[in-house]
Amino acid sequence: MHRIVYKGVSRRSLLRGAGGAAALGAFSAMPFVKARAADPVKVGLMLPYSGTFAKLGENITFAIEMLLEEKGGMLGGRPIEFVRLDDESDPAKAPENTNRLVSRDEVDVIIGTVHSGVLMGMIQVVRDSGTLLICPNAGAGAATGKFCAPNIFRTSFSNWQPAYGAGRQLGVDGVKKAAFITWDYAAGQEAAEGFKSGLEEHGGTLVQTLTVPFPETNWQALLAQIPSLGVEAVGSFFAGGGAVQFVKDYQAAGLKDQIPLTGSGFLTEGTLGAQGDAATGIRTALHYGDGIETERNMTFREAFLARTEREADVYAVQGYDAAQLLAAGLEAVGGDMDAEDEMIAAMAGATIDSPRGQFTLSAAHNPVQDFYLREVQDGMNKVIGIAAEKLSDPATGCEMG
Ligand code: PHB
Repeated sequence: MHRIVYKGVSRRSLLRGAGGAAALGAFSAMPFVKARAADPVKVGLMLPYSGTFAKLGENITFAIEMLLEEKGGMLGGRPIEFVRLDDESDPAKAPENTNRLVSRDEVDVIIGTVHSGVLMGMIQVVRDSGTLLICPNAGAGAATGKFCAPNIFRTSFSNWQPAYGAGRQLGVDGVKKAAFITWDYAAGQEAAEGFKSGLEEHGGTLVQTLTVPFPETNWQALLAQIPSLGVEAVGSFFAGGGAVQFVKDYQAAGLKDQIPLTGSGFLTEGTLGAQGDAATGIRTALHYGDGIETERNMTFREAFLARTEREADVYAVQGYDAAQLLAAGLEAVGGDMDAEDEMIAAMAGATIDSPRGQFTLSAAHNPVQDFYLREVQDGMNKVIGIAAEKLSDPATGCEMG
């Protein structure tokens, strides 16, 4: 275990039981108070509720609330209390924001976040405090790689995974030369690496990676370079508001019918209404698609639409599954979060019955899952094949498991 233990009590328990961070350095007269069964489990939702990823954070939140309601408002017999924090997708504020949730709000669990840089800013704090973290989106490889830990889980993907699927599919389709375009931060850089591995293992070459700073959208000069690169396809990583703009600009630059655009499926996820015809025909790889015709997915989509007046997307699915994973842990210990080892073992061994299809976690706590090949048809990300089956992240540097 990587948690820090003070005289047989984890720091998390100590913080909760003795009334906060002030108790850590000095003697406290307050007795250790064990949480009673009826006490709520405090869940910090550290997500973007503003900026280019705001809609992603909202859909994650709506789906978490939906799962809780389906479970009658309790997990493992404990009511749940949410503490929401807008992380603004700002990595510089991440350590302080995480500390606030852990020390001031005394949360038992954090579900967060969307942005890889923010996730990396959270990791040190949750590793030091032993706070349980479930990541419902951000794909930073190190969270389930070099910095993996028993108390860190992810129900989404690593940045490497969907991009590997997209690159692999191009290689299988016979593409020899491709370029990649993305925001210049961890998620984009790792997606470029995944795309390159998938493509190059299947006979193609990544000839150039083009980048703009996050969250800028001034890629006109980069789009102008693409025709001269001599590539047959362009891979990409963009998401949220930026993805809407990029897909429209790619078409407006006259590139759409000349050089097919592909990439991690976030490019067309939760964005199709705003992208309109500019997205039609775009093929991407992702662990979800609107057109998965299982009853599980249909029921989920209908319930989400009825609740939010929004079509479900991958972010909603990942949020829902983060709550399902927490439920699996809490149910295994009857709500007793002091039974940490047991709870963690139950979560690590869970099979999550997700709208995307069932999945399990790797030894590093990252989903092992299929990456679908999707094509935008009639305003939907229709599943037309499998780009990579049961794909596991390489989890480089993780010494757990
Ligand atoms: C990330 O920063 O890891 C990230 C953000 C948005 C996505 C996917 C990954 O849609």
